Amino acid sequence: MMTDFVLASLHHVLIFLLMAALAAELVLVRPGLAGGSLRRLAGIDGAYGALSLAVLAVGVCRVVWGIKGWEAYSGNVWFWHKMAAFLIVGLLSIAPTIRFTRWRKQAAANPSFAVGDAEVKAVRRFMHAEAAIFLLIPIFAAAMARYGA
Ligand code: HEM
Repeated sequence: MMTDFVLASLHHVLIFLLMAALAAELVLVRPGLAGGSLRRLAGIDGAYGALSLAVLAVGVCRVVWGIKGWEAYSGNVWFWHKMAAFLIVGLLSIAPTIRFTRWRKQAAANPSFAVGDAEVKAVRRFMHAEAAIFLLIPIFAAAMARYGA
């Protein structure tokens, strides 16, 4: 019971931090992005990656050591919807991470470098898709906790 409580609490805290990191990235990725903001963005993106892995690790622990056990989830259609949405969010985050790394390197080589508006627009499209699919995850989570088995 205590393990389930600790894992559930960690799960929720990590999810809020993950959403905060994505929101911070959306605030920073704006036309004229350059210099210090690019370095901050790279740092936040690193935290975003680490938080995603932590959410995944704690989620797996909940499946294995949570109060219901793997049998409760393996046949639950909403659990698999949630896993698919989580995977899609992860895949959608690859292109922005590659661009952020490239921009940071360009800025390191040329201090007056600023990201072009077309590139900002392209990356924001990925990030908006990520945020939209992300919002489905808690809905699937609520469904999986109640139905689908
Ligand atoms: C960003 C990703 C995630 C979000 C937003 C999220 C959200 C949630 C929420 C809101 C709940 C509470 C559901 C409720 O009691 O109504 C929950 C429960 C749970 N989540 Fe996640 N989750 C995420 C990722 C994961 C992953 C990757 C796993 C497993 C690999 C996982 C496994 C679980 C389990 C086992 C529960 C307990 C469900 C129950 O009470 O039966 N979660 N999640």
